[in-house]
Amino acid sequence: MEKEDAGLIGETGLQRKSDVIVIGAGAAGMMAAIRAGKRGRSVVILDHARAPGEKIRISGGGRCNFTNIHAGPKNFLSANPHFCKSALARFTPADFIAMVDRHGIAWHEKTLGQLFCDDSAKDIIRMLLAEMRMAGAVLHLGTEISGVEKTEAGFRVSTSEGHCEASSLIVAAGGKSIPKMGATGFAYRLAEQFGLAVLETRPGLVPLTLDPGLLESIAPLAGIAAPAEIRHGRTAFREALLFTHRGLSGPAILQISSYWREGDEVVVSIEPDIDIAAHLKTAKQLNGRQSPQTALGDILPKRLAQFLVEREKISGNMADLPDKALLRLAAGVQNWAVKPSGSEGYRTAEVTLGGIDTAALDSRSMEAKAVPGLYFIGECVDVTGWLGGYNFQWAWASGFAAGEWA
Ligand code: FDA
Repeated sequence: MEKEDAGLIGETGLQRKSDVIVIGAGAAGMMAAIRAGKRGRSVVILDHARAPGEKIRISGGGRCNFTNIHAGPKNFLSANPHFCKSALARFTPADFIAMVDRHGIAWHEKTLGQLFCDDSAKDIIRMLLAEMRMAGAVLHLGTEISGVEKTEAGFRVSTSEGHCEASSLIVAAGGKSIPKMGATGFAYRLAEQFGLAVLETRPGLVPLTLDPGLLESIAPLAGIAAPAEIRHGRTAFREALLFTHRGLSGPAILQISSYWREGDEVVVSIEPDIDIAAHLKTAKQLNGRQSPQTALGDILPKRLAQFLVEREKISGNMADLPDKALLRLAAGVQNWAVKPSGSEGYRTAEVTLGGIDTAALDSRSMEAKAVPGLYFIGECVDVTGWLGGYNFQWAWASGFAAGEWA
C-alpha cells in the first residue's frame, strides 16, 4: 500500500456503524464501494487479504485485460443468459475506459477488443483506491469475517477486528479459483445461510488434461502453439492452441473449457483458415517426391507435422499416397476429436462457473429478492465471462449496479 492511502485505510479500529458494508476488496467490491460512496453513503470495505485487488494485480500477465470493447450478454455463461443484460447496459466498457482515461492510465487494444494497460495492472488498483478515497470509503485489510447476522436495522458482521453494522451488505468475496490467493467459497456459504440457491460450481477458463497414454504420445509437442478452432457441440472458438506437458492449453482451450463437461469430446481443427486437404493434393501434384511431413511442414510447425503424419501411420512420398490417405491426414489435422481426462481445476482456473442462482437476485440491483439490503456481485454470481476482459467487465458492472442501490 502507498503513502497516499492514509485516510482510506481504516487505522483507528473498525467503524461500528455505516450505511454499507462490502465484503471483498476485489474488482467488484471496490467498484461497489466507489459507487455507493459517491452517492453519499458511508462505506466500510472488509477483506481478509493483506492487499486489495490481488487478482487484478496478477491478471493479464501483469497488465490487466481490464475490459473488452465488444462485451455483451452473448459473451457470458449463466443458467439465465438474460440476467446480465441490465447491469452490463448500465455500466459499459466505455464507462470504465472513461475512468481509466481520467486517471491518465495508458492502454492499448491487444486483439479481439481486449484492452490492456500499457504499463502495469497496479495502475488499475491505484485508480480504484484513489476513487474509493474520493468516495470516502474506508478499507480494512487483514480482517477475518467470523459471522454475519440479520438485524432489525440491517446486518451485523463479526470480524477479527470487532463487529460492525450497516443497513446494506454487499458480498463481493469472489469464487473458488486460485485457493492459494485466498479464494474460500465464502460468498456461497453466506448465500446459503440466507436461503439463496447456489448452482453447481466448477472451474472455468482452465487448461484441459489428457490421459497418460495420449499425453505420452503428444509429449514431444510440449511448447508448440498453433492457430486453431476448438469445438464443443455448437460452440467454437478460434484462437491459439498450446500443447503442454500436462495436456492442452492456450486461449482456445481455456475458452472451450468453460463449456466442456467431464466425459465430453472437443474437436480440434489446426490452422482452420487453410484448406489442408487442398494443400496436400496440390503438393502431391507439384512435388510428388516430397514427404508428407515436409508438405504439412509448409503450414504447421515441423514437430507437429511429423507427429500428425506418424499418428496416421502414413509413409512414402506424396506421389505414392492415395488421395484417401491425404484426406485421412487432413482430417487428423482439422477434425481431431479429443476426450480430455479432466481439467487443471481451481488451482489454475481463471474463474468459477456457476454460483449464486440469479433467480434469487434482482438483475437491476443485484439485491437478494428475499433479503432486502443483501447484495451479491462479481464472480460469486452465476454469470461467467469468456476469456478476454469480460470477467472484469462483469465485476465492474455488477459492482456499479449494487453500489447504485445499496
Ligand atoms: P475477486 O476474487 O477479485 O475478489 C474477491 C475478494 O474477496 C478478494 O480480495 C478476497 O481476498 C476477498 N475474500 C474472499 N473471501 C473472503 C473472506 N472470507 N473474508 C474476507 N474477504 C474475502 N479477468 C479479466 O477480465 N481479465 C483478465 O486479464 C483476467 N486475468 C486473470 C488472471 C488470473 C490468473 C485469474 C485467476 C483471473 C483472471 N481474470 C481476468 C478473472 C478476474 O480476476 C475475476 O473475474 C475477478 O477478479 C472477479 O472479481 P471479484 O471482485 O468478483 O472477485
